[in-house]
Amino acid sequence: MIQTPYYLIDKSKLLRNLEAMDRVRRMSGARVLLALKCFATWSVFDLMRRHMDGTTSSSLYEVRLGREKFGGETHAYSVAHADHEIDEVVSCADKIIFNSIGQLERFGDRAGTIARGLRLNPGVSSSSFDLADPARPFSRLGEWDAGKVEKIMDRISGFMIHNNCENADFSLFDRMLTRIEEKFGSLLKRAEWVSLGGGIHFTGENYPLDACCERLRAFSGRFGVQVYLEPGEAAITKSTTLEVTVLDTLFNGKNLAVVDSSIEAHMLDLLIYRESAKVAPNEGPHRYMVCGKSCLAGDVFGEFDFPAELKVGDRISIQDAAGYTMVKKNWFNGVKMPSIAIREPDGSVRVVREFGFADYEQSLS
Ligand SMILES: Cc1ncc(COP(=O)(O)O)c(C=O)c1O
Repeated sequence: MIQTPYYLIDKSKLLRNLEAMDRVRRMSGARVLLALKCFATWSVFDLMRRHMDGTTSSSLYEVRLGREKFGGETHAYSVAHADHEIDEVVSCADKIIFNSIGQLERFGDRAGTIARGLRLNPGVSSSSFDLADPARPFSRLGEWDAGKVEKIMDRISGFMIHNNCENADFSLFDRMLTRIEEKFGSLLKRAEWVSLGGGIHFTGENYPLDACCERLRAFSGRFGVQVYLEPGEAAITKSTTLEVTVLDTLFNGKNLAVVDSSIEAHMLDLLIYRESAKVAPNEGPHRYMVCGKSCLAGDVFGEFDFPAELKVGDRISIQDAAGYTMVKKNWFNGVKMPSIAIREPDGSVRVVREFGFADYEQSLS
């Protein structure tokens, strides 16, 4: 038995998503880059790189990880590149995408021979969270004014537009893309490539993948551009669990179970967006609030139903623990950081990384 807590990546489940990547590449002609901001656990890149064209990034360290650990086509984007980082960023990348005309003007000449692009902000998004909405009022994410962009077209060869957020509604995606075509059509006609970012939930159940691919192919043909997609969540959804053990049970008006993990430290994204974790099958007569072991009063994974009373030593498997989760784990309260384990397609499980006191100590000074 592997000591909990640990993240468990199931390669067979991951492969289901990756097969959808293959279909998208084949049917739409788009190239598909993994968004490292969502998932950067490089131990499974050997599998992922067979089904994806490369990576996209948000910082120097991500672009370097993409180049060194994934390979393929490597896009460098950042909300703002720093003077002391730009040369290394360029040395790791095939394309650099600037967030603003200001950054392009400042660093464009340092891009050497690699392709330069600009982020556009179409002013519409599918996000229901203000926090994650690139089109929120006063957003800093990309240029909005086609007239201004027109003037620097001789300095770039493509665009990146990211305005979808876990969008499982193809007709909404279609409408937003039409809006992009209307707003930026004259610019797109002069581009060689356009990345439509991430956030399209095309690996979700019943997603009309064929229609989406047709739409992408039509977009590509209309403007004569190579289309890129930058899936994060869609690439790894439902592939990974966080395995925890019950350390204590209490009754305080509700049945509580304290586990050897922490939502604040190990699934922070859920806490930020005030969402519950998921436990499967979540059925049975015994309802428990599953709580983390950090001292944060609201360190609660959620309330779930179990077939039997929980007792100390029971294992619980928290679902969907890959995206924006492993990349955000932290050392709050010095809680032991979950190890990383991989389940191979033949069922065997191996631990690929353990974290100990030295890692905690060395994360500060
Ligand atoms: C520029 C860009 N590309 C790709 C992604 C990945 O999005 P998702 O994980 O929703 O597919 C994001 C997410 O924030 C992003 O900002």
